[in-house]
Amino acid sequence: MILFEPGVCQVDVATGQLKGATNRYVKTFRDLAGLYRDESAYQALIATRGDDVAYEVTDYPSANGGDIIIGVTRMEPGKIGDEYFMTRGHIHARPNRPEMYYGEAGVGVMLLESPHGEIRTIEIRARTMCYVPPFWIHRSVNVGLEPLVMTFSYPADAGQDYDVIAKAGGMRSRIVDDGNGGWTTVDNAGYSGRHPSLVEDIMSRVD
Ligand code: NI
Repeated sequence: MILFEPGVCQVDVATGQLKGATNRYVKTFRDLAGLYRDESAYQALIATRGDDVAYEVTDYPSANGGDIIIGVTRMEPGKIGDEYFMTRGHIHARPNRPEMYYGEAGVGVMLLESPHGEIRTIEIRARTMCYVPPFWIHRSVNVGLEPLVMTFSYPADAGQDYDVIAKAGGMRSRIVDDGNGGWTTVDNAGYSGRHPSLVEDIMSRVD
């Protein structure tokens, strides 16, 4: 058996990157088509900022079962209409895998939805540790005025399934401006939920 070498990385809060990371990916605003309620506001943003980075991830990945992935995510502040910038969101392809997020800078909300359609929200500030349990769909939202920077870690074999949200017409709730500079949840009118057989299929994946 060949042992992996221990690794060390630095969280650069100012840039929102993990220094020493071996992998980086970005999502531009153009990549996020279909997520937001206000399509005309989305198109207006795309016209001027379509190629700008909405959020990025720098991580130190491994593909080995039993291992973990560590990384940092950074998301721009802003809104499309009254809806705060967010990540695409996913459930883990092996849905019984958990995740941890740790706030470094900014103010965020972790929006979580069970396969059955229950919603939870966790506000994340610097030094908040957020536990995403197995089987919860999760999306992070920047509800502050500054970039949202978080450290995260999850099992290396977790994978990501984005279709679970798209097929349900989005997540059940949207995170919007409450009119006083804060945030609140509103129902997503396009949400269709999941057929019980799909819920059963997700909940049975426990390998
Ligand atoms: Ni995840």
